[in-house]
Order: sequence, then structure tokens, then C-alpha cells
Amino acid sequence: MCGIVGYVGKKPAQDILLSGLKRLEYRGYDSAGIATLDSEGEAKLARSVGKISELSKVLDEAPQDGNLGIGHTRWATHGGVTETNAHPHHVGRIYLVHNGIIENFKELREELKGYKFASDTDTEVLAALIDSNYKDGTSLKDAVAKSLKRVRGTYGIAVFSPSEPGAIIVARLGSPLIIGLGKDETLIASDASALLGYTREAIYLNDGELAVCTRDGADVFSLDLKHLSVKPETIEGDVEQIQKGGYDHFLLKEIMDQATTLHDTLSGRIKPDAGKMHLGGPNLTEEEMRNIHHVVIVGCGTAYYAGLLASYYMEQLVPDLTTEVVVASEYRYRSFHLPKDSVALIVSQSGETADTLACLREIKKRGVKTLGIVNVVGSTIAREVDGGTYVHVGPEISVASTKAFTAQVITMLMFAGMLAEYHGGDPKLLAEFTRELAILPEEIKKTLDTYRPEMEKLAKKYAKFDHALYLGRDTAYPIALEGALKLKEISYIHAEGYASGELKHGPIALVDDRFFEVFTILDNWLFDKACGGLHEVRARGGKTIVLTNSKADIEADDIVRIDSPIKLLTPLLLNTLQQLFAYYVAVDRGNDVDQPRNLAKSVTVE
Ligand code: M6R
Repeated sequence: MCGIVGYVGKKPAQDILLSGLKRLEYRGYDSAGIATLDSEGEAKLARSVGKISELSKVLDEAPQDGNLGIGHTRWATHGGVTETNAHPHHVGRIYLVHNGIIENFKELREELKGYKFASDTDTEVLAALIDSNYKDGTSLKDAVAKSLKRVRGTYGIAVFSPSEPGAIIVARLGSPLIIGLGKDETLIASDASALLGYTREAIYLNDGELAVCTRDGADVFSLDLKHLSVKPETIEGDVEQIQKGGYDHFLLKEIMDQATTLHDTLSGRIKPDAGKMHLGGPNLTEEEMRNIHHVVIVGCGTAYYAGLLASYYMEQLVPDLTTEVVVASEYRYRSFHLPKDSVALIVSQSGETADTLACLREIKKRGVKTLGIVNVVGSTIAREVDGGTYVHVGPEISVASTKAFTAQVITMLMFAGMLAEYHGGDPKLLAEFTRELAILPEEIKKTLDTYRPEMEKLAKKYAKFDHALYLGRDTAYPIALEGALKLKEISYIHAEGYASGELKHGPIALVDDRFFEVFTILDNWLFDKACGGLHEVRARGGKTIVLTNSKADIEADDIVRIDSPIKLLTPLLLNTLQQLFAYYVAVDRGNDVDQPRNLAKSVTVE
């Protein structure tokens, strides 16, 4: 969703702000802008609707000088997608960019009688509030702190004023803000990827903190203006990770990179010879591990589906475990009860998803231990959980989640493998899972390399359809849900995922020539039942694609059969085929694959 960048140093701010905003493009946005302050103390503002390239055109016509500035990509919440609603907002002596939502902005606007508002946004109201508190003798820092105490809602902000050149004030509550500390320069970003290549040293601001950033560094304060001593942390990752590396799209790169990234997910965490798995992050004592009998897994979208698949594996591995997988946007408002012997797995690629974060806080209130299954290092969820494990797949830039899904599943599987040892799990099964994990990266690579041309061909054949059903049983069921989500979000084909046993309970009524059906069929004890649904659809003239690891006779319009020593983890292999399929369908339809319409990479508001 919205992105913030800021710069104060010796270099021209405009270029650094633009390149930072480009790096944040993947988060999803519909307008962008920058404000800079030149050496004469004159501030300039440029905003435009659409892509950063539109903003660049505006700046080509009227370049902005200066070594200090702030920038923003906006994903509309309050007010339509217009230039006036785009950030930065300028009110009086204040220039402001803001991520989040000011819930009481109407009430504040009523109070700010002397101001005329040009936009429909909550942000402009906050800018006016700061300006109203920025009276003679008051510092900008004090004015910001005073204003933020009046605010209900969430914010990550960056503010400057021509009256105090050389300083940018930043603050956060529920919306990430990172300060990069360089030599003679300080950078600001809502996402560490905008800082890569500039510096590795950063301060991750906590909720309720504010900082004064100058080119010499940053001073951090509480909203009560107590000076805080903060230790900078190291930013992980490098610039290559946020480049396409020869691929046409980040999505394809991220799909194809899975073999490498999964090595990092597994590194040091499995011992195939001993048939054991071990994660350091959960930080649970042996007694705590023994006492866990209930696992609740929380996530949204793809993270939720990863949890669903992991729950099947957990139940197989840990005989006395009850699992519950919940959609965060629902769970946060339910009157849920968790038994004392529970642990919660909070699953999120970005670590910033608002609903998932809200669940984490609700669960903590109930005294239940929370463990993060998170990708972005230093993200809010990663910082607030009691323990947890990074999935370590590096930056996932494309809005559609691919490599994070696979890594989330196997990370939760490794947690289950650890639990199994304390709960009388079958050592043979544990050893088998461990063996499969060890070869998974290589098998994924083989699958992707071998079937990529076939998936591209298949995608061309089916790209003209309007509707799709994805069906699977057992561990292929979560894969059906994930396959449908991937297709709909990037190709805009209407797609639904179902448990194939549900076909007769409704969805089979849809089968007609506008639909195609994708069956994921596993070579396991439910094979015949899984084929049952396929026969029913074919009997009604449905167009069917089968993805399978079975060698048995199957009738379908198109069959993709993989051949791999992997059995238990086959759904993960077949899912990579679905990822390729969705990608090529979207390309064929001429869509913006990496930034699909209406979507944001991390959903930081409700
Ligand atoms: O960052 P998170 O994993 O918390 O994000 C959760 C969902 O928003 C995300 O998985 C979304 O469904 C993706 N666009 C799916 O590809």
C-alpha cells in the first residue's frame, strides 16, 4: 500500500526520492508525489496521478533543486484518485506525507476552522493540525508531537517545514517507518527495500516514537518528548534481490528463484541423516513444547492458504495436536477462546498486514504465546511476536505471493517436525518429511525447468476463458484455493477453489463452456475419490486440466504429469505449475503482472 521516502544530505534529493519511490512501486499505488526544499529555503511540490513515470514527466518539465525532501506513493482510501488528494500535502508552513488512516479526521477538521481544505483526505487535516500547533517559539518536533497526541488511528509520517530547513520529522503508530543512517545523509522509508544500496545501518522506529532526522543522523523521542537511546540495526538483503535479473517480470523471477530461496529457508534447519528438523526462533522450552496441544494459524490470502496446507501436515506429524486455521479479518472480531495449551502461528510475508497484526495483539491479550512465520525482517509482526522464524526468501516484489507461500508451508512443517518429537510422532514419517524437504529445492527447480514451456502453451490455450474452477482433495485442497487466487489476482479471470468433494454440493451447476476446471490429483490413498470429481465434470462436458504425479490412466483435456521422488510434498511441486500457469495467462492477456489492478502488496489498513 502507500509508501514513504525521505532524504536529507548533500546529494540532489529529487533523484533519490524518485528512485526510492520506484522501489516501492510494487506495494501498489495510484498516485505519487514529492516535495523538496532548496538551499534558498524554497519548497517545491510535484504530484501526479498514475505511475511514477508520470511524476517523472512532471519533474522533467520542472526539476526541483535541494538536498532535502519527502515522497509518497498513495493507494486511495479517503478520497478518490486525484492529484489534489495525492501526497505530499502542503498546509501553511507544513509539508507532510502519511501512511495509515486518521480515524477522527472529520472531528479534527471541524475544529480547524481557519483552514480551507483542498483535498478530501485525512492527511491534509493532519497537516493543518500540525500547522495550527506550529506557533512562534514552538519547534516542529514539538508541534508534531502535540498534534499526534490528538490523533486516533494509524500513521507513519514524514514532515518538513521551510521554517526549519535541514530537518525532517518522522513518527509512527501502526505503520512502518525506517531511518537509514548513511555518511552525511539520512534516508527515510516505509520499507527497507528503498534503503538497499545506500546504507545497511537503520533505526526501525517503534509505535509511539518520533525522530528528528538531519544529515548527521537521527534523534528519537517518545511522544512525551523524552529522548530515547536507540541502537541501530542492520538491514538485510542487497540491490540484486530487488532487480528483475534478466526476467521480464518480478513474478516470473520469484517463481523461478524458488529453488535458491528455499535453500535459505531450510539452511541449518533440517538434518536429513538424523531425520530431524530444528528451528531456533520459537524459543520454547522442552516443557512448553510438550504442553502444546492446540495450534491456531492466522493469516490472510495466500498466507492463510499456506497455513491451511501446513495444518494437514501438522496433524499427520503430531498425533495429539488440534489445529485451527483462521482468516485474520474475521478472527480479530470474533469472541474467540483459546485453550491454555495453545500456540498461535502468525503468518505474513510482509509482516505488516493490518488484520493479521490485529489478531496477533488480540491473541497476546489472551495470554497465548505467539510465533511469527514472517518474511520481512524487522517488520511489525516480527517485532511484536513472542518468538518465531523468518522464512528467509528475500524481498518478494511482485504483488502476487509465490515463493513466500512455499517457504511459509515448509517453515510451519519444520515447526510441526519439532513438535512431533515431543508428542510421540512417528519417527519414520518425520524422517520421510525431512528427506523430502532436503530434496525439495532441487525438485522444484527440475519441475519448473521441465514444465515451464508446457505451462506457457497451456496458458495460451485457456487465456480466453472467463471462469475457472480449481479442485483438489486432502493436501491438494489448499493448493486448489491458492491456484484460484493466483489466477484471479493477476489474470482477472474469475476463479474459485473448492474441495473436490464439494462439487456435488453446488459448484458443479456452473460447469459450461465458459468455464475450465483445474484438478490437482495426488497419487495417494484418495486418488480414486479425487478422480470422481473429474469424471463428474467431464460427463457434463467440462474442459479439464489435470496436474498430477500419478502414472495411472486419467482422462482429461490436458494432463501435466510430474515425475519426482517427492510424495508427501507433491502439492508444493504442483503449485509451482499453477504459479507458472497464472503468470503466462496474465501475460497473454496483456495485464500488468507485477502490479495487478486494485491490489497492494501489503495491506496495512483494514
Ligand atoms: O504480507 P502478507 O503475507 O500478510 O499478505 C497477506 C495477503 O495480503 C497476500 O498473501 C495476498 O493474498 C497476495 N496478494 C496473494 O498473492
